[in-house]
Amino acid sequence: MLKQYKEAIEKSNIVSKTDVFGIITFVNDEFCKISGYSKEELIGKNHNIVRHPDVPASTYVELWKTIRSKQTYKTTAKNRAKNGSTFYVNTSITPILDEFENIVEFIAIRYDVTNEVLYKHQLQKKEKELEELNASLEKRVQEKTSELKELNETLEKRVAKEIAKNQQKQKVMFWQSRLASLGEMLANIAHQWRQPLTELNLTLFTLKKAALRGDVEEINKLYDESKNNIKNMSNIIEDFTNFFKPGKEKRYFKVADSINEALQILEKLIKEEMIIIKTEFEDLAVLGITNELSQVIVNLIKNSRDAFVHNSILIREITISVKKFNTNLAIIEVQDNAGGIKGKEIYKIFEPYFTTKHTSQGTGLGLFMSKMICENGLGGTIDVKSKKGTTIFSITIPIEEQNA
Ligand SMILES: Nc1ncnc2c1ncn2[C@@H]1O[C@H](COP(=O)(O)OP(=O)(O)OP(=O)(O)O)[C@@H](O)[C@H]1O
Ligand SMILES: [Mg+2]
Repeated sequence: MLKQYKEAIEKSNIVSKTDVFGIITFVNDEFCKISGYSKEELIGKNHNIVRHPDVPASTYVELWKTIRSKQTYKTTAKNRAKNGSTFYVNTSITPILDEFENIVEFIAIRYDVTNEVLYKHQLQKKEKELEELNASLEKRVQEKTSELKELNETLEKRVAKEIAKNQQKQKVMFWQSRLASLGEMLANIAHQWRQPLTELNLTLFTLKKAALRGDVEEINKLYDESKNNIKNMSNIIEDFTNFFKPGKEKRYFKVADSINEALQILEKLIKEEMIIIKTEFEDLAVLGITNELSQVIVNLIKNSRDAFVHNSILIREITISVKKFNTNLAIIEVQDNAGGIKGKEIYKIFEPYFTTKHTSQGTGLGLFMSKMICENGLGGTIDVKSKKGTTIFSITIPIEEQNA
C-alpha cells in the first residue's frame, strides 16, 4: 500500500531526498530528466548542485530555517540544469522524523512549472511594454496637445490680425465708395444742371433785351421763369444730397405724383423737342423716396430725347404707364419710338460710364444711377427691352401693406 503511494508520487512528480546536511541520497527519473544529471552524478552531492545563481542566499537561509524547525517549506524554485538552462518547479520540502521526533532526512516533491513561469514572465514583460507604450503614448498625446494648443493660439492671433486687417480694408473700401459716389453725385449734378443752366443763360439774355425795351410784363414772365429754373437746379442738388445721405427716411408716396413731378421738371424740354407724352396711371403707392423715382423718370426721358435727336425722329412719342401686377407689384413702363438700342449695347447700358454719346453730352452714369435707385432705394428692379425702333424700360417696385 505504502509502496503504491510511493510509486504513484514518484511517477507523477520530481522527487529527491537528502540527508540532514542536504546531501542527495535519492533522486527519481523525473529529477534526472529535468536536471539533466544522471543518478550517479547526483547521489552524494549537495542538493545545491541545481541551485541557480540568481536566487539570493537569503532564500536558502529561510528554507533551512523552516525545514529545521520541522515544517514544510513551499516555494516555486528557480533551478539550473546541467546544461545551464533554467527550470522552474513548484517545490515542497518536508522533513521526515523518526519516532523520537528527530529529523532523519528531507524529501522534496516538485512538479515542473517552467512553462507557466515563462509565460507569466512573458506576460509581465508584455504588460510592462504595454505600460511603457501607454506612458509614452500619454506623453505624446500631451506633447501633441500642447503643440495644438500653441498652434491654436497663434492661429487665434493670426485670425485676429486678419480680421483687423479686413476691417481696415473695409473702412478704406467704404471711403473709396463714398468718394466714388461723391464723384458720381457731382458728375450727375453737373449733367442735370447743363440744361437749366443753358436755359437760364438764354432767359437772362432775353430778359436783358426786354429790360432795354422796358417791357415790364415780359420782364416779370422771364423773371419767374428764371426763378423756376434756379429752383429746379437747387432741387437737383437737394435730390442728390438726399440720395447720398445715409439714413434718409422712406415714406409711402404715389407713383403717379412722382412721375408728374419729373414731367414738370422736363416740361420745357418736352415742349421744345416736340415730344408727345402719353400717360396711363393706376393709383398705386410704394415705399421709398419720391424724388428718387422722379430722378429715374427724368433720366429715362432725357435718354429718349437724345435718341430722338440722334436718330432724327420726327414723330416723337413717349408712353408712360403705371400698372398693378400680381397684387403686390407696381410696374412702371416708359416706352419710346426713338430708334431702339443695338443688341450688343443693350447689355452694357446699366454699367457706369457706358455711353454712346459724345463726352460733352453724356457721362454714361444716368442709367447706372437709375438702377441704383430702383434696386437700393425702392427695393425693385429695372429692365430694358428694345425692338423695331422702340425701347421699353420697365421698373418693378413691390407694393407693401400701407399701415400709415
Ligand atoms: N431710350 C433710349 N434709346 C436709345 N438708346 C438709349 C436709350 N436709353 C439709353 N440709351 C443708350 O444707353 C446709353 C447709356 O445711357 P445712360 O443714361 O446711362 O448714359 P448717357 O445718357 O450716355 O449719359 P448720361 O446719362 O450720364 O448723361 C446711352 O449712351 C445710349 O446709347
Ligand atoms: Mg442718360
